[in-house]
Amino acid sequence: MKISPSILNVYDTNLDESLVVLEKVKADFLHVDVMDNIFVPNYTFNHEFVSFLKNKTNLILDTHLMIINPDEEYQKYIDAGTTYLTFHLEATSSPLELIKKIKNGGAKAGVSIKPNTKVETLLPLLEEVDLVLVMSVEPGFGGQVFNQNAVEKIAYLNSVRQDKQLSFLIEVDGGINLDTAKLVKNAGCDIIVVGSYLMKSSDIENTYKKLKEL
Ligand code: DX5
Ligand code: ZN
Repeated sequence: MKISPSILNVYDTNLDESLVVLEKVKADFLHVDVMDNIFVPNYTFNHEFVSFLKNKTNLILDTHLMIINPDEEYQKYIDAGTTYLTFHLEATSSPLELIKKIKNGGAKAGVSIKPNTKVETLLPLLEEVDLVLVMSVEPGFGGQVFNQNAVEKIAYLNSVRQDKQLSFLIEVDGGINLDTAKLVKNAGCDIIVVGSYLMKSSDIENTYKKLKEL
């Protein structure tokens, strides 16, 4: 599986050191959590920080928008240099149009669902989307406990992908550690977002390696 380390819990304390280690281990992606304090009860950063990161690191940016108006904001994040741009299905009334706009704008398009959103609601989007992000915690904060319903959702998406011979990637976000990573891998997951388990571990390099060896 590929790993997308989330810097949510370290960006305001030790961003520089974290980036040095993530570059050293050649992290597959860098997961950037954008929160507006409306869609979720927490505020992080905006497109200016994405742009700042783009200038600071060569890691591939995997931006997760937890904002109420992705239809209006998406282009700023593409211009800031993100490779993947994921919005929440719950935040827009025209997801298919937004996927097309993001792709036309020059990024890979991702769509995410919260734990209480039914996975079947993604069906009309799967032929068009590049990535599906299954939330295994309520979006907003790092360090929460993994919700097992994500495993069934991933298995469902993986079977639809095989049946219809589609090529979207399946990513999971929230509460990932060595145990939960095994569960999602067996269900067909391609990318794990790992926040606190990795970035707060005493040996990031070794923890990354262990996750990668799964
Ligand atoms: C939560 C964010 C996550 C968060 C994951 O809303 O989307 O990316 O950083 O953190 P952990 O791995 O600690 O659950
Ligand atoms: Zn995230």
